[in-house]
Amino acid sequence: MSDDKKKDIDEISGVETTGHEWDGLKELNNPLPRWWIWVWVISIIWSIWYFVVYPAWPVPGGATEGTSGYTQFKELQESQQEIVQRQQQYLSDFEKAEFHQIMDDPGLYAFAMAGGRAAFKDNCAVCHGTGAEGGIGYPNLNDDDWLWGGTMDAIHTTLEYGIRADNLDTRLSQMPAFGKEGLLNKEQIDEVVEYVMALSSDEDVTQMPGHQIFQQNCASCHGPDAKGMHEFGAPNLTDGIWLYGGERADIYETVYNARNSLMPAWNERLDDNTIRQLTVYVHQLGGGVEEAAKEPTSILSPVKSMEE
Ligand code: HEC
Ligand code: HEC
Repeated sequence: MSDDKKKDIDEISGVETTGHEWDGLKELNNPLPRWWIWVWVISIIWSIWYFVVYPAWPVPGGATEGTSGYTQFKELQESQQEIVQRQQQYLSDFEKAEFHQIMDDPGLYAFAMAGGRAAFKDNCAVCHGTGAEGGIGYPNLNDDDWLWGGTMDAIHTTLEYGIRADNLDTRLSQMPAFGKEGLLNKEQIDEVVEYVMALSSDEDVTQMPGHQIFQQNCASCHGPDAKGMHEFGAPNLTDGIWLYGGERADIYETVYNARNSLMPAWNERLDDNTIRQLTVYVHQLGGGVEEAAKEPTSILSPVKSMEE
């Protein structure tokens, strides 16, 4: 077949030329490899197919639909729907379950903890800290030291109605401002502060002058043994855990002016499921210990005013 006379072979490279020549420069005839042409052709066909089947051409407000009807947005929607459905299932199970059933069901418990943790960050961390560690005037919720009780029901009531909050059912009790209201004179306050400071030590406090003052003015809320009473939200004064600080000046300030801080009621801001999730979460933070013995008999009547 080959006709050497027709072909012009370049001497240096030994490659055939196209016959074009410029000022003595010859163009070599190097055709593209066959495999490369095939890949090129196939990708053209593939891209036409892709344009037809998938959304490809940008048009105002999105892109052409594509014959398959597929979009990533739809895919996202579907998987989202699946998640929502699964949540809905948990939510309706959760709604029906009592607290003890939630604690016994690992799925519901995990659901409550996840929801509670998120809701805590959003609503509670501003005051109680992200780790619920509290601060001056804001109780630490990690320890098992409770003002108003650490059972599920007690925590649930605290969250729903708040403490000294703007709510008809809120938990109430006002420690009087013994100095400001003239109930005790400075000397008596000094004595009772001395006494309170000694309570968390090993000292025998019954011989102290503050003992009498305490029994007459303070025991009705904090208890004769000063171990606190959940009914009145009165803290244990013997455990060395201080809400407002344990220095002499802190305690003097508490007794002279009283504190009476406020915890908002959540039943108007959060739905009951969220409050119940938070209850499980907070209960778990405090070690999850039930302390039935110290609970007031009826947690259904949280209003305990000392005015009566
Ligand atoms: C505006 C600040 C503030 C916010 C927000 C707040 N708290 Fe409180 N919380 C307080 C204060 C102050 C107390 C203590 C009140 C007292 O002296 O009895 C308290 C008390 C509590 C108690 C009772 C502790 C005990 O020892 O009995 C619980 C439980 C509690 N908060 C949980 C929560 C949860 C859960 C949230 C979020 C939904 C929340 N708090 C949001 C300020 C706040
Ligand atoms: C009407 C009930 C009541 C009476 C009476 C009462 N307290 Fe309190 N006390 C409370 C409550 C409730 C709190 C904590 C909540 C708050 O004030 O925010 C508290 C808190 C305290 C604290 C702060 C504890 C801490 O952890 O920082 C001290 C100290 C204290 N009381 C001492 C006394 C002394 C001393 C008397 C008597 C002179 C007295 N209380 C009488 C209800 C009472």
